[in-house]
Amino acid sequence: MDLGLTDRVAFVAGASSGLGYAAVAALAREGCRVALCSRDEARIEQAADRLAAALGLEDGRLLPLVCDVRDEAAIERAIGEAVQRFGALHILVTNAGGPPSGFIGDFDAQQWREALELNLMSTINLCRHALPHLRAAARSAGHARVLMVTSVSAKQPIPSLYLSNTARAGVQGFAKSLAEELGPEGITVNTILPGYTRTERLKDLARAMQERTGQSVEAIEAGWAAGNALKRIGDPQEFADAVAFLASARASYITGVALPVDGGAVKHLL
Ligand SMILES: NC(=O)c1ccc[n+]([C@@H]2O[C@H](COP(=O)([O-])OP(=O)(O)OC[C@H]3O[C@@H](n4cnc5c(N)ncnc54)[C@H](OP(=O)(O)O)[C@@H]3O)[C@@H](O)[C@H]2O)c1
Repeated sequence: MDLGLTDRVAFVAGASSGLGYAAVAALAREGCRVALCSRDEARIEQAADRLAAALGLEDGRLLPLVCDVRDEAAIERAIGEAVQRFGALHILVTNAGGPPSGFIGDFDAQQWREALELNLMSTINLCRHALPHLRAAARSAGHARVLMVTSVSAKQPIPSLYLSNTARAGVQGFAKSLAEELGPEGITVNTILPGYTRTERLKDLARAMQERTGQSVEAIEAGWAAGNALKRIGDPQEFADAVAFLASARASYITGVALPVDGGAVKHLL
């Protein structure tokens, strides 16, 4: 199937490693030009170099940018640089790191605010600043795409992930509102909900749970795997393939959807 992504321009946030990095790889493999950002200059430049070499990309297909998505001015700057370099923006993938795990007594008000900045406000601000460019792309190319990375915790809250559970629910409400408003303009808006997927974030969560429970990391991961229908942890590439499809011309009648990529971890019917 031709995904119709050749020469489309994508902006992927939180992309020096993990799910964001895999999303950049999948989009670039399908022919997109991609601006990718993270907080750390060395890490994001290494990520772009590694990907360009692995995929045999021509010079200039990837644009690594430094941008902390908690900083609205940095978002505005990074999106401006991407549009200036590539001349358009067709696809936005919002993403960042995850907040710490813990229960109600573990966080003060400031930590709650920081989690909402990291996972909710960053998503809103990325969309706000990308929107004029996405609208222009939809007018000239017929459609544009917004994909927001959230978590299965948006459908089925995970007991120790209070901060994530709360911020993701906000993103789901924002996404559904945006899908409704932007649909008539040809812009689709969907969320992708990873389940347990093998990245640095997963290692951090396993270590935190080990400290809390005394279980081994192997036992913790086995428990996570046992919780889904496929009985294994996911690979970032499996997540990224869903990103490429939803970003593509082929996903033209799918909007407002919350797609779990979780091996069947979410158990409810719909
Ligand atoms: N992996 C899973 O099993 C899983 C499951 C459900 C949900 N999620 C969620 O999916 C998202 C991505 O997860 P992941 O597993 O890929 O995490 P990860 O391995 O920790 O990677 C996070 C990426 O985001 C960048 N980043 C972190 N904070 C940032 C910020 N403030 N501004 C810009 N970039 C930032 C990091 O790069 P720098 O350090 O270079 O900035 C890194 O490239 C997270 O929100 C996570 O909670 C993950």
